[in-house]
Amino acid sequence: MKIKSICCIGAGYVGGPTMSVIAQKNPNIKVTVVDLNSKRIADWNSKDLTKLPIYEPGLDEVVAEARGRNLFFSTEVDAAIVDAEMIFISVNTPTKTYGAGKGMAADLKYVELCARQIAKVSITDKIVVEKSTLPVKTAEAIQNILDNTGNGVDFQILSNPEFLAEGTAMRDLAIPDRVLIGGDSNTKKGQKAIQALVDVYRSWVPKENILTTNIWSSELSKLTANAFLAQRVSSINSLSELCEATGANVQEVAKAIGMDSRIGPKFLQASVGFGGSCFQKDILNLVYIAKSLGLNEVADYWHQVILMNNHQRDRFAKNIIKTLYSTVNGKTIAFLGWAFKKDTNDTRESAAIYVADLLMDEQATIKVYDPKVNATQMQSDLNYLNSRSEDKNVAYLKTESNPYMAMEGAHAIAVLTEWDEFKTYDWQRIYNSMQKPAFVFDGRNVLDREVLEKIGFEYKEIGS
Ligand code: UDX
Ligand code: UDX
Repeated sequence: MKIKSICCIGAGYVGGPTMSVIAQKNPNIKVTVVDLNSKRIADWNSKDLTKLPIYEPGLDEVVAEARGRNLFFSTEVDAAIVDAEMIFISVNTPTKTYGAGKGMAADLKYVELCARQIAKVSITDKIVVEKSTLPVKTAEAIQNILDNTGNGVDFQILSNPEFLAEGTAMRDLAIPDRVLIGGDSNTKKGQKAIQALVDVYRSWVPKENILTTNIWSSELSKLTANAFLAQRVSSINSLSELCEATGANVQEVAKAIGMDSRIGPKFLQASVGFGGSCFQKDILNLVYIAKSLGLNEVADYWHQVILMNNHQRDRFAKNIIKTLYSTVNGKTIAFLGWAFKKDTNDTRESAAIYVADLLMDEQATIKVYDPKVNATQMQSDLNYLNSRSEDKNVAYLKTESNPYMAMEGAHAIAVLTEWDEFKTYDWQRIYNSMQKPAFVFDGRNVLDREVLEKIGFEYKEIGS
């Protein structure tokens, strides 16, 4: 069975880029990405490619190539479902903010709504693919809903988690380490569904990089891949504090242990803490699943990864306060970066939000410059924390569209994102415009200590 028509529900950071690449590599498949958010869809359809709703290097070229040919963005959800043989569910699954599992479990409200909608309008057989990261056994729930509320058509469920990292999404999609497809290989229909999805990827991914498993292994692998990655960051961050206390240098330690080929060099960059839509959510989800199964030691083990991350953010903010003579009241701290990492405009769970919040509790003024994040987004991130009134957030946190303006007159600079352009600034000019002593707190260890110290800055980095 060769798929001719695909629909993806959810035009976000995962659905948008993934479907763009699937469409680019499969010109014979019609790919329609739908979303309830009509503004988002309008932005995806924007003629001006700099207006695409998400910033991802290289995405504009792929959209330019495929959009209007076999890639479509639409708000007509029902029509796209009816038309498609294969439907990807790529809606968000945030951590629950209410009820049982509050602050831990994934909120599956949107996924369930999608399943119900698919069941309601489908009049032909469908393959339904879970793209969203979901707790183990969600596929069973989706299958139940589809079978019990559908019109008697056949639904095959597959799990196909996404491993793309933001900022490198296009490369991760074009040459993935692996594509994981979970399905029911015990039935003929299950096997056919798996093969249909394998064929979609085979247009550009070598056979040996496509891994098929049972559906539960696939769901669990996504959660645990992120948990392992986050654990490495928390491990190196825990050592950063130890390094600061002993005179060791965490970058030297990271290099030394990373050269052990069993450990490897990646994800050993000490930082102010990991952010992003996935790490925290997926670990909390894993912890919640372990707890629900009565596996308390397993739950505590993974929960520590989160606690370490919270501690690292706190420690960074407290170090700024302590260094600035234990008061930041009335002082201005310039932030370089607000996004959770470079090359993305995504700010979900970004360390910058939490550091800003702690400094604002101490009544500091924050002036932020980020090359891709606007003031509205920053304010909405702060308001989401609910720590103070929206008016106060506006009063204490200013956004600057020019980095030099953000740093002019500031008492200290905090680097929260590792954007490459920060290294290219005229640091002498910045020094001249600041209050003295001029402090730099490099939460990403990206600036050059030697250069800054020569100019006269007090330079503090993580882990030395
Ligand atoms: C994805 C995955 O879905 C999530 O499980 C994973 O852990 C992180 O990445 P992402 O693409 O980053 O989420 O989320 P987001 O950018 O919020 O996009 C989701 C889109 O789905 C939004 O545009 C939202 O409007 C849309 N949506 C949500 C619907 O169209 N229908 C719904 O019922 C809910
Ligand atoms: C992650 C996974 O990498 C990806 O496979 C999955 O599909 C989604 O979640 P993403 O959240 O986009 O991707 O970013 P990632 O590059 O993993 O970085 C996560 C956070 O860890 C960032 O805040 C980053 O700055 C931080 N980090 C990463 C460090 O602090 N140190 C490191 O060495 C690596």
